[in-house]
Amino acid sequence: MANNLLKGKKGIVFGALDNKSIAWKVALEAVANGAEIVLTNAPIALRMGSINELASQCNAKIIPADATSLKDLEHLFDASMQELNGKIDFVLHSIGMSVNVRKKRPYTDLNYDFLIKGLDVSAVSFHKMLQVAFKMDAINDFGSILALTYIAAQRTFPDYNDMAENKSYLESIARSFGYHYGKHNNVRVNTISQSPTMTTAGSGVSGFDAFFEYANSISPMGNASSEDCAKYCISLFSDYTKMVTMQNLFHDGGFSSTGVSQDIIDILQKK
Ligand code: NAI
Repeated sequence: MANNLLKGKKGIVFGALDNKSIAWKVALEAVANGAEIVLTNAPIALRMGSINELASQCNAKIIPADATSLKDLEHLFDASMQELNGKIDFVLHSIGMSVNVRKKRPYTDLNYDFLIKGLDVSAVSFHKMLQVAFKMDAINDFGSILALTYIAAQRTFPDYNDMAENKSYLESIARSFGYHYGKHNNVRVNTISQSPTMTTAGSGVSGFDAFFEYANSISPMGNASSEDCAKYCISLFSDYTKMVTMQNLFHDGGFSSTGVSQDIIDILQKK
């Protein structure tokens, strides 16, 4: 279903770890739609994951960057503009990590050093990336910058732990920076709130399988897949959404607007 929506556009894709990653699907879909891209991830993830395979499929260079390091981000934008021969049209921030979730700390017993680290990786990194790009004037007019988020920013999902705060902060940055970038040179900044998706980061949340099935049963269309999420990202990178900015956009098969579904009622009535 590639329609060359990104023909002539140049992008940077953060966060492809393995072929389950949402960013992996976005990279493939962007290239299928005519874009040229650079792939990036934290140096440790480049050693652990399988990004080389994606790079060869996408004919893309990999430029390592820890998204919490301003120095790495400056190098990334500089080297990407050289590699792609010009300014950047789109960026995907597909990064999330909570040390408290990894170490199974309950929400009522958080370690605050872990909290600060997770906030830096999952949310402040988005501001850092935007600020570096802004100061370097690295994004073309009507460029589009996206980050991925989850509905736990608005509603409580107990096992999502301190990632809920990280996502709230992330979504707020999209609104605040979106204002300044819109004024500066019409660059759009949005977040996509995606359904639960079977990936390394997703399945790190305890009880993820039940979480996934619950969302699937509530959503009238079922959970949105990572492939469909990638297609939605392409539409937001394209010129068909030029005036969409400072939004948190739900890509969830209707989950966010549904109170209860017949499927859930049927399950509960059988008990
Ligand atoms: P993933 O585990 O494949 O991707 C997370 C990425 O973050 C990895 O590539 C990892 O290397 C990268 N990362 C971690 N620390 C980094 C750092 N310091 N610098 C640069 N990169 C770093 O998992 P997934 O699910 O594809 O996650 C992508 C995004 O989608 C995350 O923001 C996640 O919260 C979000 N999301 C995921 C959902 C799910 O159920 N899987 C649902 C809604 C949103």
